[in-house]
Amino acid sequence: MTFKTTDLTPLIETSITADKAALLDGSNAQALRALLEERGVLIFPRADLSDEEQRTFARTIGTPTDQGERGLHKISLDEKVTASARYLKGTVLWHFDGWNDPVPALGTVLSARVLSSTGGQTEFSNTYAAYEELPAETKARISGLKVAHTMMGTQRGIHAEVKPEMEADWENFAIPRHPLVWTHRSGRRSLLLGSSADWIEGLDSSESDTLLAELKAWASQPRYVYRHEWQVGDVVLWDNCGVLHRVEPYPMDSGRVMHRVTLEGEEAIT
Ligand code: OGA
Ligand code: MN
Repeated sequence: MTFKTTDLTPLIETSITADKAALLDGSNAQALRALLEERGVLIFPRADLSDEEQRTFARTIGTPTDQGERGLHKISLDEKVTASARYLKGTVLWHFDGWNDPVPALGTVLSARVLSSTGGQTEFSNTYAAYEELPAETKARISGLKVAHTMMGTQRGIHAEVKPEMEADWENFAIPRHPLVWTHRSGRRSLLLGSSADWIEGLDSSESDTLLAELKAWASQPRYVYRHEWQVGDVVLWDNCGVLHRVEPYPMDSGRVMHRVTLEGEEAIT
């Protein structure tokens, strides 16, 4: 392995110092994939990748989607920068990406281009570790439960005013039902939560709300969370299948822009 690693917290995150060439030539890709699954988030401080280098690096790890400009998508709350700005407001809530895709993204490569002077740091929570450490009786209680995921869930609570046309738009989205516990083909299990997780099938609504709130609070305990304080040029790769993420609120006109390459999903939720 031609890189140096440092774990900043016991249960999530590894920081990696590597020559740019070693990131781009794919020679470490297998080791990085293994580390990604184990640690949830890999940080490449000040890797300073150009857009093309970011695409190349992402291709060594998985299969980039064709979102945005040849696979590179601008993340901003400014509608002049990206048409999806209005949905991206929901990124301040814990979530995973692609809750409404049949196979959610494997992971994401995000690089910092322009930072906000306030807020805008990103937090990640390891939902493998959060599941593993649940009390045995909770594991037994949640085994087999299914959760309805809604666009409404991702948007409710973040808009100062909800207009009827906004609600009508959110209702256009499908409502997939996912298991609350994802059993991966590796055999490991993770909690599948996030803002899209709206209600648990078969429970009355107060029981469902209480259980979801308890599990969300459990998974966001500090021991499962890594908070990344960005510097321009940092590159972060996260495992979207075993990690929730959220960004600290930042002003819509802050100028914050991140460049993102999404890696196609490789495993359906089961
Ligand atoms: C995303 C996202 C977090 C951030 O791009 O899916 O949640 O820090 N971004 O901008
Ligand atoms: Mn996201």
